[in-house]
Amino acid sequence: MTLQAAPKPSADSSKALYGGKGTRRITVHDIAAAKARGEKWPMLTAYDAMTASVFDEAGIPVILVGDSMGNCHLGYETTVPVTMDEMTFLSAAVVRGTQRALVVGDLPFGSYQEGPVQALRNATRLIKDAGVHAVKLEGGERSLAQTELLVQAGIPVMSHLGLTPQSVNTMGYRVQGRTDEAAHRLLSDAKAAQDAGAFAVVLELVPAELAAEVTRSLHIPTIGIGAGAGTDAQVLVWTDMAGLTGGKVPRFTKQYANLRETLGDAARAFAEDVSGGEFPAEEHTFH
Ligand code: KIV
Repeated sequence: MTLQAAPKPSADSSKALYGGKGTRRITVHDIAAAKARGEKWPMLTAYDAMTASVFDEAGIPVILVGDSMGNCHLGYETTVPVTMDEMTFLSAAVVRGTQRALVVGDLPFGSYQEGPVQALRNATRLIKDAGVHAVKLEGGERSLAQTELLVQAGIPVMSHLGLTPQSVNTMGYRVQGRTDEAAHRLLSDAKAAQDAGAFAVVLELVPAELAAEVTRSLHIPTIGIGAGAGTDAQVLVWTDMAGLTGGKVPRFTKQYANLRETLGDAARAFAEDVSGGEFPAEEHTFH
């Protein structure tokens, strides 16, 4: 398998998902058009209205309310404990914080594995109560019936393949698709998700050559995380990208800021001011 150069973006950059002139809400049709143009685009996670508004204003076209909120926002060790109540509550906040981005809500572990009817009930809740514009679920073949029913019901579905963190207890956190058989399975899972009507596929922690081959084989976009440069889009967990996550971050993450240090410095400066009697000063005081 070899990496193939992506097609050149069209000259009409006014329609671009990122950097385009459009101000209306992005739709799944815009996402499909970006694939046809060969445009590469960014996706970030968000778990609250304020952060989502920053990303929306920065022009991020797709925001994922990921179940990574479990580890990155709610203090769980994994994504597994995240509930529908938590997902609905935080997804609604993210939607309120955005005007342009397409907001995708994750279906958490246990909210769709029982079958298509359970998936439809919970996806409907995210669409109606939280106002998300699409949902994401993990698994190719194993989640096909769910994907088909949601799509039939008019709910756009983003599929998630490769490393699927909700299966951490069986899979661990390792690169997927390294053997010929696993690569073949990933490719057929991706095609099955596309045939079932998914509008995009996340590829997490798979070899770059395989991710590029999947990308060439599909007419829907692939969104890579730890999947090399050959996918149509790239997603990062925002707290990793902005350097807020404590401890070790995955090697595939690029850190664009060090918010943990900046916030810690701000908190320490405030504490010093208070303990030294320098805050509040006259300009912060009413008489
Ligand atoms: O939950 C999440 O943040 C995700 C991304 C890593 C794709 O699923």
